[in-house]
Amino acid sequence: MSNDSTTKVLAVAAGLCVVCSVLVSTAAVSLRPAQEANKVLDRKSNILVAAGIVEDGAEVDVDSVFEEKIEAKLVDLTTGEYVEGDPDTFDDREAAKDPSTSIELTRNQDLGGIKRRTNVAPIYLIKDGGETTGVILPIHGKGLWSTLYGFLALGDDLETIRGLGFYEHGETPGLGGEVDNPKWKSSWVGKKAFDNEGDVAIEVIKGSVNPSSESSKYQIDGLSGATITARGVSNTVQFWLGDDGFGKYLERLKTDGLG
Ligand SMILES: Cc1cc2nc3c(=O)[nH]c(=O)nc-3n(C[C@H](O)[C@H](O)[C@H](O)COP(=O)(O)O)c2cc1C
Repeated sequence: MSNDSTTKVLAVAAGLCVVCSVLVSTAAVSLRPAQEANKVLDRKSNILVAAGIVEDGAEVDVDSVFEEKIEAKLVDLTTGEYVEGDPDTFDDREAAKDPSTSIELTRNQDLGGIKRRTNVAPIYLIKDGGETTGVILPIHGKGLWSTLYGFLALGDDLETIRGLGFYEHGETPGLGGEVDNPKWKSSWVGKKAFDNEGDVAIEVIKGSVNPSSESSKYQIDGLSGATITARGVSNTVQFWLGDDGFGKYLERLKTDGLG
């Protein structure tokens, strides 16, 4: 058969397609475990960075630091009590889709724009020697273009913010993407999440915080040109600290103590 024959050209093209698709599928399947392991490692790294335990980009053995400094548990968000289960394998995105493992939020409840909230959620206790010195809460909520996923860390008084960081979002670099700006993230550290009455008070304001104002301890500078993302972060943090988020759990810890 001549090399120019249509049949031969089609046969070669079809053969090539089969070989390539087998190669791509094999690569996808064989790389999946490594991708999953990297995802878990990335999550651990973000937890440690949000709590200020390691610096962003620092070269550390994430697994061993996590093992030493973090104790993960699952919390029932309705009662605030710990429940049995493996926080490492808990898939909050899947659980949020299932009516048996999540609730639908009403418009008034849904500050973070997430529609459904899981019944249980992982939390990460920060260990320092034998002491528990804080807690890291996973949070997520709507910005302008995307849902932002991150962690908020509180100190041992359960009021002072130790850190905030997002590990996944689709906001515009230079605008909403400034949520990743280390300077902006560091402005959260030391702020108070709750006022003297115990109500959630932390907020991202439009513009700059006046350091001499009484409420500055609850306020974070806005993101210039990205007020919608900034408001989304503010609402997200307020939702997860509130009664429909980790509020019951935090209340219980204030009575029972961390640990
Ligand atoms: C291409 C494009 C991307 C934008 N990305 C964001 C964004 O990621 N987050 C955001 O809040 N606003 C973003 N904006 C701006 C919003 O439309 C809106 O103008 C802004 O949030 C208002 O904030 P300001 O009051 O601080 O100017 C974007 C606008 C354009 C044209």
